[in-house]
Amino acid sequence: MATTQENPLLEGLQLRRTPDPCALVIFGASGDLTQKKLLPALYSLAFRRLLPERFAVVGVARTEETDEEFKARMKEAVRQYGRDELRDDVWETLAEGMRYVGTDFADEGGENEVAETLKEIDEERSLEGNRVYYLAIPPSVFPTVVDALGQRRTAKGWTRLIVEKPFGHDLQSARTLNAAIQEHFSEDEVFRIDHYLGKETVQNMLALRFANGIFEPIWNRQFIDHIQITVAESIGIEGRAGYYEQAGAIRDIFQNHLLQLLAITAMEPPIDFTAESVRNEKVKVLRSMHTPGPKSVVRGQYGRGFVEGDEVRGYREEVGVDPQSMTDTYVAAKLYVDNWRWADTPFYVRMGKRLPRRETAIAIQFKRAPHPPFEETAADGLRPNVLLVHIQPDEGVSFAIGAKVPGQGMTIRTVHMDFLYGGAFRTGMPEAYERLILDCMLGDATLFTRTDEVEEQWKLVDAMVAPWLRDRPSFPNYAAGTWGPQSADELLHRDQRSWRRH
Ligand code: NDP
Ligand code: BG6
Repeated sequence: MATTQENPLLEGLQLRRTPDPCALVIFGASGDLTQKKLLPALYSLAFRRLLPERFAVVGVARTEETDEEFKARMKEAVRQYGRDELRDDVWETLAEGMRYVGTDFADEGGENEVAETLKEIDEERSLEGNRVYYLAIPPSVFPTVVDALGQRRTAKGWTRLIVEKPFGHDLQSARTLNAAIQEHFSEDEVFRIDHYLGKETVQNMLALRFANGIFEPIWNRQFIDHIQITVAESIGIEGRAGYYEQAGAIRDIFQNHLLQLLAITAMEPPIDFTAESVRNEKVKVLRSMHTPGPKSVVRGQYGRGFVEGDEVRGYREEVGVDPQSMTDTYVAAKLYVDNWRWADTPFYVRMGKRLPRRETAIAIQFKRAPHPPFEETAADGLRPNVLLVHIQPDEGVSFAIGAKVPGQGMTIRTVHMDFLYGGAFRTGMPEAYERLILDCMLGDATLFTRTDEVEEQWKLVDAMVAPWLRDRPSFPNYAAGTWGPQSADELLHRDQRSWRRH
């Protein structure tokens, strides 16, 4: 095995993480996710020699393609979307174990073709019957595929199932899907993806909180005034109208990524970092959450505007979107976690498409110093301390503190102590999918969501959207390229607070 001295790319990675031989079967191999995320992630794992030596990738979709065409298309995808240089030797090693099956899984017999290919490649590459099935398909096809896979389970080797989001459309459908999965798979075989949990900076939130003794005593309602979580995107719906019209920002981002960020920020220290301990603590947070009243939730939809200098169309003008659509592309809310640590501490959250720029950040806003012993005007430029965790881009952490301006007298101003990943570590940032695929192969579910978490997330969303069936806000209510509807600002102004300045 290579050491960090032989290969500096391995620095920071735990070398004992070598998975068993296995086949990764991707359902949805002709789709967007496979080419933009999954294959580039697999290539980067191969590049760092983190994949098992005996490994295979079987792509499945309805589109007819030969193995060679599939490989050529995936190579191009790696070239276009990968983070590492495309090296022929690395690619050839990965491509050697790649196969493609063109079949409709909804048709009788579709699964037989997949099983045949798997049997062949298993023998050829001694994969010991170990399988990871990745469902990168539309959610409507999940039950058919899960059922077919369950029926064909063999006793040989282990089986794991990665299920992409969205996991259901509401609590009822999530429960139905869980029941279908649990008919054939045990909970420790199911890996529900929320790719935000695979992001380095999200995991760093755990490191920040639990590897540093100084934060724990002040990480509570006594010292923290409020918390702001922003998931801003400058992109629109990127041709995914069919999906987005049904989902909106509340199901696309709030139900999963945002609530996971909140849970990690608010959770109690777990007793250890096993999947069960971490997920037990997150689910407690989700269970402690109030349903916000309608006045504490703002929804928006973007109209035409300018983003990063380019004129862009409004949501209702996007291809495939109903011109009268009432789908939300922006949500802001004031949330409470009702427990001893956080009672009465608001969590203001906002997320939206076509905002001025891409930025995901968690801001921990501390209370003002109780009594600044300076002249009244001396601290005019001073704001309370903020710990800002930049999830993306410019990954890092920044702490705003008051400092004396050099010179005569005593004038205080806010300055920032910054830690930037790029500066502190030599390694590039791995993509979330690299971490998650590898963890699944290793059977580590810590960064995946458990049934009860998903259900708690849906309970909250269902309660929040219930009033939406009655009232019809006047959409569009924010121009593309702005920070959302005015009512989102008013949500904070009512509490004499404001969104963090950008
Ligand atoms: P696409 O529509 O681009 O791809 C869907 C894939 O499913 C295609 O390969 C399609 O192949 C295949 N498929 C559909 N029906 C069948 C069937 N009956 N039998 C076999 N294959 C079938 O979707 P995405 O790649 O964008 O998304 C896939 C999943 O990932 C979805 O659950 C989505 O919500 C999730 N996701 C996607 C993200 C993204 O950035 N794209 C981000 C987060 C989650 P064909 O048409 O050839 O049959
Ligand atoms: C996906 C959503 O889960 O996350 C997309 O479906 C969104 O709408 C994407 O654009 C954002 O992911 P990231 O990693 O770019 O922040």
